[in-house]
Amino acid sequence: MQILVLYYTQTGQLKQILDNMLSTLGDKASIDYVCYKPEKDFPFPWTSDQFFDAMPECVLEIPVPLQSFQIPDKAYDLVILGYQPWFLSPSVPTTSFLVSGQAKKLRGLPVVTVVGSRNMWLNAQEKIKAQLHNIGARHVGNIVFADTNHNLVSLFTIIRWTFTGQKEPSRFLPEAGVQTPDIEGSRKFGPVLFEAASTGNWQNLQPQLLARGAVSLKPTLIVLEKRGITKFRKFAVYIRQKGEPGNPERLSRVHLFKRLLLTGIFVLSPVSGFTAKMASLFKRKTFRQQLAYFKGVSYEPNVI
Ligand SMILES: Cc1cc2nc3c(=O)[nH]c(=O)nc-3n(C[C@H](O)[C@H](O)[C@H](O)COP(=O)(O)O)c2cc1C
Repeated sequence: MQILVLYYTQTGQLKQILDNMLSTLGDKASIDYVCYKPEKDFPFPWTSDQFFDAMPECVLEIPVPLQSFQIPDKAYDLVILGYQPWFLSPSVPTTSFLVSGQAKKLRGLPVVTVVGSRNMWLNAQEKIKAQLHNIGARHVGNIVFADTNHNLVSLFTIIRWTFTGQKEPSRFLPEAGVQTPDIEGSRKFGPVLFEAASTGNWQNLQPQLLARGAVSLKPTLIVLEKRGITKFRKFAVYIRQKGEPGNPERLSRVHLFKRLLLTGIFVLSPVSGFTAKMASLFKRKTFRQQLAYFKGVSYEPNVI
C-alpha cells in the first residue's frame, strides 16, 4: 500500500501526531512524507506584530510562494493532509499548497484531513473542503486534534507557546496545544485508515473514525466561530487596504485588531460564551444538524 502524507508544521506537533497515527502500519505500507514550506517561512516563536499582522492573509486565503518540492508520481492508495488553523482559517502554508500546481496531483485521490488545532477549526475545515472540491480530490475522512483543557486555560497556554516557544507545563498552567496522551493516542486511527485503504470502502471510514472519537465538538463553538470569522473577514479587508504584510502603513490597524481581539477573548468571552450556550439550547434541532454536518466530510458551500 502507498500512502502520501502532506503537511506543514512550525513546532513539530503535527508531525508527531501524523507519525503516531501511522506508527502501527509498520511494513504494511510505504509512506512518503512531503513537507511544504514557504520560501520565506513564518517565525516561531512569533513576535506580537508578526503574529497579528498574519491575520488578513490567512482569512482572505492569500497564498505565498513555497520552497520547491515534488509529490512523487505514484499511484497512492491514500493521501493524508495534515494542517493547522490560523485565525479560524487554513494556515497560509496550507492555502499556498492547495492552490499550487503540485496539489493538482491529488485529483481523484482519497484524502483524509488531520487537523492539529487549539480548538477552533470549523471555518478552516470548510475552506479546506472547498479547496479539495476544486482540485477534484475525494475527501473521505477527517480527524481533529485539539487542546482538551478549558477554553481560557488553552488560551493562556497557547499564548505562552506562541510567543516564548514553551509547550511544556509551567508552575500554574498545563502543557500547551494537543495534550501528549492525545498525540500518542492518535495510533488508534492507523488500523481504521489501513482497513479503508485496503478495501476501498471509503463510505464507512468517517463513521468508523467518529466511533473512535475522531471529532469532538461543542455546539457553542459553532456560534463563537461564526461570530469570530464574520468580524475577522471585515478586519482583514480593512487592514489590507493599507498594504501587504509587514508594511508599516498597516501597523496601526493591526494594533487595533489586536486590542479588540484580546478584549473580546478575555473580557467579553464569558458573556459571549453564555449567549452562545443559550443560542444552542434554544435551537437544539438546528444545532444537532449542524454538529452532524461539521463532524462529517460532506461539503455544502457557505455553511459558515
Ligand atoms: C498565527 C496562528 C494562529 C492560530 N489560530 C488558531 C485558530 O484560529 N484556531 C485554533 O484552533 N488554533 C489556532 N492556532 C494554533 C495552531 O492551529 C496549531 O495548533 C499550533 O500553531 C501548532 O501547530 P504546528 O503543527 O504548526 O506546530 C494558531 C496558531 C498560529 C501560529
